[in-house]
Amino acid sequence: MQDTSQENLEKQVLAYALEKSVILTEDGLESLKTQENFKKIIDYFAEDTSKAVVTAQDVHAVKDNEKQTTLTPGKTRVEKTSFRPAAKDIESQLTIHEKTDVTGKSRGEGKKEDFIRYFNNRYEQLAKILKNRSSLGSIKELDRLNRVPPNKDTTLIAMVSGKRRTKNNHMLIEIEDPTGSAAALVLEKNNDIAEQILLDDVIAIKGRMIGSGGLLLVNEVFWPDIPFRKGNRSEEEVLAAFTSDLHIGSKLFMKDKFNTMIKWLNNDCGSKKSREMVGKIKYLFIAGDLVDGIGIFPGQEKELETPDIYRQYEEFESYIKELPEHIEIIIGPGNHDAVRVADPQPAVPKEFLKELYGFKNIHMVGSPVTVTTHGVKTIMYHGTSLDPVIAEFPDASYEKPTKAMREMLKRRNLSLTYGNKPITMEETDYLSISDVPDILLMGHVHKNDYEMYHGTFMMNVGTWQLKTPLQEKMNFDPTPGIVPVLDLKSFKLTEINFNKALAKTD
Ligand SMILES: [Fe+2]
Ligand SMILES: [Fe+2]
Repeated sequence: MQDTSQENLEKQVLAYALEKSVILTEDGLESLKTQENFKKIIDYFAEDTSKAVVTAQDVHAVKDNEKQTTLTPGKTRVEKTSFRPAAKDIESQLTIHEKTDVTGKSRGEGKKEDFIRYFNNRYEQLAKILKNRSSLGSIKELDRLNRVPPNKDTTLIAMVSGKRRTKNNHMLIEIEDPTGSAAALVLEKNNDIAEQILLDDVIAIKGRMIGSGGLLLVNEVFWPDIPFRKGNRSEEEVLAAFTSDLHIGSKLFMKDKFNTMIKWLNNDCGSKKSREMVGKIKYLFIAGDLVDGIGIFPGQEKELETPDIYRQYEEFESYIKELPEHIEIIIGPGNHDAVRVADPQPAVPKEFLKELYGFKNIHMVGSPVTVTTHGVKTIMYHGTSLDPVIAEFPDASYEKPTKAMREMLKRRNLSLTYGNKPITMEETDYLSISDVPDILLMGHVHKNDYEMYHGTFMMNVGTWQLKTPLQEKMNFDPTPGIVPVLDLKSFKLTEINFNKALAKTD
């Protein structure tokens, strides 16, 4: 006997819509629930490539049409519009800032000289930002500190090379600059400052000399930080979509939903509103962990559907090459990809992505990298160092990765304390944030999270992998299948949720 309860009817409509990859708005679902021939109507939309998300209005239009003609999917359409995406007529304005990308330039060999050169470069980049801050006044170099008389105020810029608690619970910090080293004391009453100081931070310190031994009593600490400002915006309305952490090859990769996204970007499913939006998407950023990889962690083979790295990348290529060619696609690596795990990571090599390297609209980049699209500057970084940064700050968490991203912007560095995650010492510190970005984009933690900080829009853009056994153990809920789309002119963000037949489109 057929179950006619409302709840079951809703389930039947949703299940059938899902089977046919038809996305419904809430009112579209309500309307379809009242239609005996809902399957026929869904079939109709399944074949109508001009409809992405189906609204109640669409359902009514088809019903009205049906009164006059027999509804034949694919033949009797309401009216199939010939779709021409607006972004096709928008000339691409894309700059990949080569100097920010390590690809093809890696020289780090792990020698002692590399180490010294790396830290000198990091100090120089960050000290330069601090020196430009006029409120700091004149800066004393550390080799001149012993000439400052006791009780006199002074300001210096240094890298933190050590920190420890004294028996009175004050914090003694060891500091260095290219001229020498010194010690500074943060009193217990300023514990809030002391706790924020990390090893390897480059900071400006205002303080007072105590005694004649060259010890500085810390009054204020300044991090390089980013200035308050309104960031750059596109002059015309053009959209960018952002995603990350596909983990193709994993049993938990959401193949069907990812396929729906590819269809959606091709305008093969979705509502009128969503269709207008898709048409304006000019850029797609993919922030790494394209595949699940092999041998990334012990026992990974049990979690793999495709245990062959080449086949994992072939599958990745099969999706990406279906995307329309007017969309510029920027693809970076992550810690699961077939490149060195240490940051900065070079682009995934041609050996694995033979076909995609031949596409003019596909750009393989390293991580991190700075990319300007229509005047908006984005730093795309996979986010491998989010793990130690989240561990370092009590208010940061895997649920709120933007809090850790904020600390990186404040310190103008993407790796923070050395040694917590592998990095390769290059000639320049690719992980320092020398130019202030309008967007800081990361993945890696599999959680969608967005926040504005001093005018920079921080985005963590989720995943296409369902909850893993490790995340289960950590009691962490990822947010798979949600794609943020940003209007580069207004910075209005729209999330497209591919988890359900219902898509939020405004
Ligand atoms: Fe990942
Ligand atoms: Fe990752």
